[in-house]
Amino acid sequence: MAGSTYDLVVLGGGSGGYAAALRAAELGLTVALVERDKVGGTCLHKGCIPTKALLHAGEVADSARESASFGVNATFEGVDVPKVNAYKDKVVDKLYKGLAGLIKSRKIEVVAGSGRLTSPTTVEVDGKTLTATRAVVLATGSVPKSLPGLEIDGTQVITSDDALTLDRVPKSAVILGAGAIGCEFASVWRSFGTEAVTIVEALPHLVPLEEESSSKLLERAFRKRGIAFELGARFAGVKTTDAGVTVSLESGKTIEAELLLVAVGRGPVSSGLGYEEAGVTLDRGYVVVDEYCRTSVPGVYAVGDLIPTLQLAHVGFAEGILVAEHVAGLNPKPVDYDGVPRVTYSEPEVASVGITTATAKARGLDVATVTYDLAGNGKSQILQTAGAVTLVAVKDGPVVGVHMVGSRVGELVAEAQLITNWEAYADDVAQLIHPHPTMSEAVGEAHLALAGKPLHSHS
Ligand code: NAI
Repeated sequence: MAGSTYDLVVLGGGSGGYAAALRAAELGLTVALVERDKVGGTCLHKGCIPTKALLHAGEVADSARESASFGVNATFEGVDVPKVNAYKDKVVDKLYKGLAGLIKSRKIEVVAGSGRLTSPTTVEVDGKTLTATRAVVLATGSVPKSLPGLEIDGTQVITSDDALTLDRVPKSAVILGAGAIGCEFASVWRSFGTEAVTIVEALPHLVPLEEESSSKLLERAFRKRGIAFELGARFAGVKTTDAGVTVSLESGKTIEAELLLVAVGRGPVSSGLGYEEAGVTLDRGYVVVDEYCRTSVPGVYAVGDLIPTLQLAHVGFAEGILVAEHVAGLNPKPVDYDGVPRVTYSEPEVASVGITTATAKARGLDVATVTYDLAGNGKSQILQTAGAVTLVAVKDGPVVGVHMVGSRVGELVAEAQLITNWEAYADDVAQLIHPHPTMSEAVGEAHLALAGKPLHSHS
């Protein structure tokens, strides 16, 4: 069949898949990109972009509500959810059109429909066979997980997919899971005016994989914002009635609310797609890969949320680029997963790169930790945000972790990434002049303190 043989066939048009397609096309390969919905995947349509639009609307609501403390007389009269959704959808649509245009301009053939791996070199889409002469890339992503016996009904017991299209601000909500999704929705709903938000988390802290001091600062900030949480709490069950949900914990405690958001992680989309039949090894549903994202089948690669690496869009981009370059015969470096920056975009934000003190200790590293409190940072006081920058450094060695909490600290993590990825020493960074007054100074000040010459902080 004409046009059905390509250098590369990519199954799934999300962050990992489209990055592989774009880079491969740039390198002169012919590419088919199979997508059953819209290119852009979870990140663009159900994740990063729409949630950050909601969070920005929440920030605007908070600004209106808190305006008097800045001497500005504005009144907050509530949130018009259909209009917020229209704003969010407009942002998504604009980016979607831009992405679709970019894909077209690189002459990538988007094949609409559900694809299935039928052999190590072929993908079938609605009866049509696409043959790959160089490689197939599996990039079918992930979907929200639930717990055994916990049924998602989409109205009272919901996932982030449903939360993104709610037509109202819930009066009250229980959120199961204090990872990025749980904390971001807790933040949005509280900003929008939800009276009672309770997060239930099995581990001892909010954002439990972060540096413990960051978790504690977020907990303090959330408490101040009136967001409740039950930590170290195991979920036992939920009963739904017309009035709402009653969530019970193993401790015997019950919490009533309008709805329950289940945010206990995302699982890979790998079943029924022919992967195992073609010989691709899976582990608990994830496709097993080596450092070049090669699966157990020669010529078949996998990227993004489908593989057991960090489920972040920017990791998918990096893996997609790596695969395209590997297939094209370049000699790319494997992804350095320790070097991946992470941001939870709640108010306040939590951002980090590198390793935590706990991980450093587990690896047998002798580390020193320094914390710079944003109380000493001019711009943070102007913005009225609390938080800190914590550095984890090898004693007499490089900085191996940067952990931050505060409004907008996500924008600071790119510099932190350069510091940890270039294995900079405190003295080197302390030499860099940061513009005053900016929040970026907090990164500089933390390094001044680590180098033993604190400026706006106590030694
Ligand atoms: P997650 O894995 O980050 O967090 C889930 C939380 O649920 C964990 O803290 C876990 O301990 C808790 N949990 C699991 N079972 C539980 C139970 N039975 N009772 C109480 N707590 C329980 O997953 P999340 O937040 O759903 O996000 C999914 C993926 O999407 C993650 O990889 C996340 O990093 C990514 N994501 C990233 C964002 C960002 O970078 N800003 C935003 C949203 C999602």
